[in-house]
Amino acid sequence: MTPTETIRVDCDASLESAVARAITVLSRGGLVAVPTETVYGLAANARDPEAVAKIFAAKGRPATNPVIAHVPNVEAARALVSEWPESASLLARAFWPGPLTIVLAKRIGAVAEDVTAGGPTVAIRVPSHPLLSRILNRIDFPLAAPSANRSESISPTTAEHVLASLDGRVDLVLDAGPTARGIESTVIDLAGPVRLLRPGPITRDQIEGLIGPLNRAAEESTGDGVARSPGMMKRHYAPKTSVEVSSDPARAIHRHRSTGRRVAWIALVGDVVDPECPCRVMAADPIEYQRDLYAALHWADEQEAELIIVTAPPVGDAWEAIHDRLRRASAFIGDLPQFP
Ligand code: TXA
Ligand code: MG
Repeated sequence: MTPTETIRVDCDASLESAVARAITVLSRGGLVAVPTETVYGLAANARDPEAVAKIFAAKGRPATNPVIAHVPNVEAARALVSEWPESASLLARAFWPGPLTIVLAKRIGAVAEDVTAGGPTVAIRVPSHPLLSRILNRIDFPLAAPSANRSESISPTTAEHVLASLDGRVDLVLDAGPTARGIESTVIDLAGPVRLLRPGPITRDQIEGLIGPLNRAAEESTGDGVARSPGMMKRHYAPKTSVEVSSDPARAIHRHRSTGRRVAWIALVGDVVDPECPCRVMAADPIEYQRDLYAALHWADEQEAELIIVTAPPVGDAWEAIHDRLRRASAFIGDLPQFP
């Protein structure tokens, strides 16, 4: 495997050369890991079936899981769909460019079949990261880009995270530092009953404030969303180490340690930390918490602990996406004995 080329983008001159190099690689059908405002994405020409196939191979992603098409603006988004409802206009005006992905009825042939996993819909987003915007504005094809991590592991919020899971599997990484939002975009489905497929930085209340109530029954009816959003599997965004979310972390830590188990703790500001336990303290503000969540899970994974305890965060609209990711990170995997 050839090691991945990395370009650090920390000044205007490096920005220009990074954009030019990325466009060269993408135009030749290569894979480029790019920063977005949410997480790093693994980008390829969405119209080139061979380039798209490389994304699935690099990630080890099942072909049944469609990927998001990234475009520079609303006009380019409309070119990918067969219908553009009024609700899409409202959402695009309010939240694009930004961390919202909209699922719509696709226009046949607008992107390679594998981008949509052969389904009738396409997921589209106009990202706001200046580096990626610049690339999108200079190419004449959309970019298929899932998060730049091996399938089912934690999404990358730094170039180091990308290299840790994909070194040698991607042609180029553009390193523009940690991402601003820290978790993946909100995904909303406008192709059928209007519903949230994945909570994210744009909250349910923000969306409902604009286009009216979402169809909660339709969200429930698919459970883990297997039928419509195959990526929303129960265990996802998960570290290698088991995760337990606890509203009484001190007690949980004591219980596990008394059986000799090594624990790492993702605490919340205000928790009384335990000097014996590696600990990372999260902010009480949901936007800051989100930004740091995956970095904290990556950190916890490196502590050589047998278990990660996470202090249960507050509840409420602004915390929905955080609870969603923690639920997926903590879905049962291993052989931990049950405690009373
Ligand atoms: O913030 C993000 O959205 C990042 C950055 C790179 O843009 N991308 C990302 O992509 O998180 P990915 O592939 O890791 O997650 C995309 C989600 C998956 O759950 C996938 O199943 C769903 O969007 N999705 C994609 N196309 C879909 C479609 N046509 N219908 C329903 N769900 C779809
Ligand atoms: Mg992903």
